[in-house]
Amino acid sequence: MVRNRAVINVGMPKGTINKNIYGHFAEHLGRCIYEGIWVGEDSPIPNTNGIRNDVLQALKNIKVPVLRWPGGCFADEYHWKDGVGPREQRKKMINTHWGGVIENNHFGTHEFMMLCEMLECEPYICGNVGSGTVQEMSEWIEYMTFDGESPMANWRKENGREKPWKLKYFGVGNENWGCGGNMRPEYYADLYRRYQTYVRNYGDNQIYKIACGANVDDYYWTEVLMKNAGRFMDGLSLHYYTIPGDFWLGKGSATDFTEDEWFITLKKALYIDELITRHSTIMDKYDPEKRVGLIVDEWGTWYDVEPGTNPGFLYQQNTIRDALVAALHFHIFHNHCDRVRMANIAQTVNVLQAVILTRGEQMILTPTYHVFDMYKVHQDAELLAIESSCAEYEHRGETLPQVSITASKNGEGTVHISLCNIDHRNEAVVDLEFRGDSLARKQVFGTMLTANEMNAHNTFEKPDAVKPEPFRQIELGQHTLMAKLPPMSVVTLAIVEN
Ligand code: AHR
Repeated sequence: MVRNRAVINVGMPKGTINKNIYGHFAEHLGRCIYEGIWVGEDSPIPNTNGIRNDVLQALKNIKVPVLRWPGGCFADEYHWKDGVGPREQRKKMINTHWGGVIENNHFGTHEFMMLCEMLECEPYICGNVGSGTVQEMSEWIEYMTFDGESPMANWRKENGREKPWKLKYFGVGNENWGCGGNMRPEYYADLYRRYQTYVRNYGDNQIYKIACGANVDDYYWTEVLMKNAGRFMDGLSLHYYTIPGDFWLGKGSATDFTEDEWFITLKKALYIDELITRHSTIMDKYDPEKRVGLIVDEWGTWYDVEPGTNPGFLYQQNTIRDALVAALHFHIFHNHCDRVRMANIAQTVNVLQAVILTRGEQMILTPTYHVFDMYKVHQDAELLAIESSCAEYEHRGETLPQVSITASKNGEGTVHISLCNIDHRNEAVVDLEFRGDSLARKQVFGTMLTANEMNAHNTFEKPDAVKPEPFRQIELGQHTLMAKLPPMSVVTLAIVEN
């Protein structure tokens, strides 16, 4: 068996892993907001001010640092004024993108800001460029952040919120190359410059402005945006979904898939490394100081919907394969932490690669949730330099690196190492050498997520089929550590003083 080797340079930090890389995205889509998060105060489902308690607690546990809302495609059709004031008087609208269902606007600005306060996370709001006006966007900012006498601030007070909220992250449109208006980059770059002018900083509230970035490998979009609007933005987004099949002809099932689909999914997940590298290279040309962050504000797996569910609701199951996709994304985001300042998985509850699924009053945590839980130790930690040589994971003549490794050191000096073995058949032996520190007088604690079947997943009947367990396949030397990873596994090790 070919062994995997890695040298971890404990004394060589490579940059801070921004905690916002562990961000989330919740859209008015299917059962994400309604039922998944918001059930209303009169619901029999236990809730606090309308937010369901079980989901709230689960999200608090993974330390959600930032939450993006209200879309997605929904954002460019959303008119925020319809979502404030007494709930029973709020205007209804059609959610044209997602199933044509009626949106009652019961979850609006106040409810979203309350949710962020409960989660102790930063709100990231996406404004409407596609079908909204400059005035509407500028008044939303005034409504949320102006402390004083003004038409919008007074209206906010009448609606029950005296003090303004803190709002750091604001997106000027979503996918304006597609559902957000089908624009050319030249046109959007000009519109961006215009709209962002009126996204004001009131008092000490400083807004980090995020421009709509490219779809997947549209490098021309990045070029035009950076060239024409780079100096007016703080962040530029990127959207990339891992789709094993074809977006229009059939994406593939979330649970009923072959070994070929396993392999192609992981290969496509790894592709985000090339995308980030190439978009970053263009950004470097216009912004060598790396002032502008690359904000991967939509990522994750996208499969065919679960049979029998509304095709517009994008409800899919989540297996150990998704856990590995998530782990690979985090490793890649860590490696690009000089440019990637935020990432938001699509989407938090009941939609696409959700961390939580609900059915009425029941809730389950997905394998992806457990990866977020195991990796929260890397939030705001210093990335450590790693040199590695990995065995090959071979499938039908194609190869991928069998193992992926990331390591960080937190403020207390604790080193955490996360590893994943994407091979669906073979275990992986990893020899880790510690440079710059001794392992003598250290203890290692490990947590592992794995499964015996490629499509292992949690259901409402068996909610704990895939869950973390202690990892003990470790041998510790003076400067070395050997770990044996089962096939299809994600492991996090904590190296602590004895
Ligand atoms: O996350 C689902 C959709 O995917 C979003 O609304 C859109 O931005 C993207 O195309």
